[in-house]
Amino acid sequence: MKTEILSGEQAIKKGAEIVRAGGVVAFPTETVYGLAANAYNPDAVRAVFAAKGRPMDNPLIVHLADKNLISTVTSGFDKKYNALVNAFMPGPLTLVVPRCKDIPDEVTAGLDTVGVRVPSDPMCRAFLAACGVPVAAPSANLSTRISPTSASHVYEDMNGRIPLIIDGGESNVGIESTVLDITGDAPVILRPGAVTAEMIAGVLGGEVKSHSGKVLAAAPAPGMKYKHYAPSCECVVAESISSAVQCYNEEKKKGCDPIILCRSRNAPLLGDCRFMALGEDDAQVCRNIYSALHKAEKIADFIICEDLGASGVAASVMNRVNKAAGGKRV
Ligand code: TXA
Ligand code: MG
Repeated sequence: MKTEILSGEQAIKKGAEIVRAGGVVAFPTETVYGLAANAYNPDAVRAVFAAKGRPMDNPLIVHLADKNLISTVTSGFDKKYNALVNAFMPGPLTLVVPRCKDIPDEVTAGLDTVGVRVPSDPMCRAFLAACGVPVAAPSANLSTRISPTSASHVYEDMNGRIPLIIDGGESNVGIESTVLDITGDAPVILRPGAVTAEMIAGVLGGEVKSHSGKVLAAAPAPGMKYKHYAPSCECVVAESISSAVQCYNEEKKKGCDPIILCRSRNAPLLGDCRFMALGEDDAQVCRNIYSALHKAEKIADFIICEDLGASGVAASVMNRVNKAAGGKRV
């Protein structure tokens, strides 16, 4: 199959036609690119799993053009959580809510809940509106690969597997949405993202239970048990800039060609080491991290990423980097 990359109105129109006809296309969102299928069409949803090489027991998020449509895919949830819809939707938040029976088992992996998201990216919303149906979509990477934040990232993994990539430029947020389970008494973060526990607690009051990277194996998000965000070369997290430099020199001696990923302000501390600066503030680092990993695995054979921090959005970024590193630290 030939994979086309189109942008603008033409891309939205053609993409929506393909989805309505039961096909699969890649589309931009503010978090990462997704692989879209009509959520009401079980065969189309199966085709998404096939294109990604994803196990069928890992559910997909249902994407909607407008938050007014949330009631069409859920059988209802505690009204106190409407405050989250008002505060963070459209935006990088997925709510896990009781599912409505019209949503097929293929989407939810047989769970009685469904993940619902209303993206904020204007091109994405235009595409979802043109589809006119709820769109089931995972990130548009091959299973276990780094999530795509540009059309060319998608092309690397999906060339020949899908007919169309809708090019909407670079994803503005840069990591996947926060997944928040609101089916219990207290909200539980199943996957951290740009909407942080602090932001959620700020709206709801009370506690937000959070799954730290270390207990993810026991997390109820089925996706968490799989290896994720794996670059094609070795990757480690460095506790400090000096340990990054030490590791760099050791790898050099072994004949490897390493690279260090760090905050821009730390680049002057790296001496002659090859590096990629991720930007200064948390939002920039978040926007750039996947792109940096995509690039680093091509130009180096060993990635050393500075520990970027343990609170706020930096903690969400580190959740992804720790997975890329398989938990390895130096
Ligand atoms: O930002 C995003 O969320 C991107 C863009 C494309 O919207 N999508 C995305 O989808 O990251 P995916 O399939 O790569 O990750 C969805 C995560 C998985 O870990 C999955 O297990 C979890 O959400 N999930 C989906 N539905 C769920 C449910 N009903 N209960 C628990 N976890 C759920
Ligand atoms: Mg994914």
